[in-house]
Amino acid sequence: MPASAVIPVSAKAVVFDAYGTLFDVHAAVARHMTDIGPDAARFSEVWRAKQLEYSWVLSLAGRYEPFWTLTEKALDHAFARFPQIDRSVGPRLLEAYRTLDAYPDVRETLRALRALGLMTGILSNGDPGMLNAAVSSAGLADDLDTILSVDAVRVFKTSPRTYELVLQALPVAASEVVFVSSNRWDIAGAAAFGFHPVWVNRAGLPDEYAELAPSAVVRSLGELV
Ligand code: LAC
Repeated sequence: MPASAVIPVSAKAVVFDAYGTLFDVHAAVARHMTDIGPDAARFSEVWRAKQLEYSWVLSLAGRYEPFWTLTEKALDHAFARFPQIDRSVGPRLLEAYRTLDAYPDVRETLRALRALGLMTGILSNGDPGMLNAAVSSAGLADDLDTILSVDAVRVFKTSPRTYELVLQALPVAASEVVFVSSNRWDIAGAAAFGFHPVWVNRAGLPDEYAELAPSAVVRSLGELV
């Protein structure tokens, strides 16, 4: 009997990506939509895309800067790309990014997983300061066994060294870890590492990275249990 339709009976822990998976990365711009104007959605997309691009380029070059610094630099670039948007909203956007909204089904999902006897955790590119701020403002600290940041190894996902952090923190083998992410590239990294990856495809995006496929695809976190 599987623990649920998407969680195998062999699973001992369910580990989540943070940004985009538990926390809505577009919530910061959404909170200041009226100040930003009609380009808000595209502005938010550029901010997020650049934040991620910087993480991959630095990692490939053997360099590292905290994810918060990349978030600030990516926002700066987004303002440069949209000169019609008043930069004075910048500090408020960064403040909002530290306290992003969690998706509405996060807390009940974490509690239901624990009720099944599974450990829960986060493995994120976010540095410890921003992760702790997000987790505590969303009130999730008591529902997580571990909060892991790639900052400990100073390289970003999809380096195997980042996924390895889970095995150092929890008494589990890779095959006993269900790794949940809304980022398809992160699912590819988790599949390559040997986790049991579950893709949260809220937007109904087309699949990619065919050789590094998810074990299951869900439309919301609530479908995990
Ligand atoms: C994270 C990035 C992928 O939380 O959003 O790791």
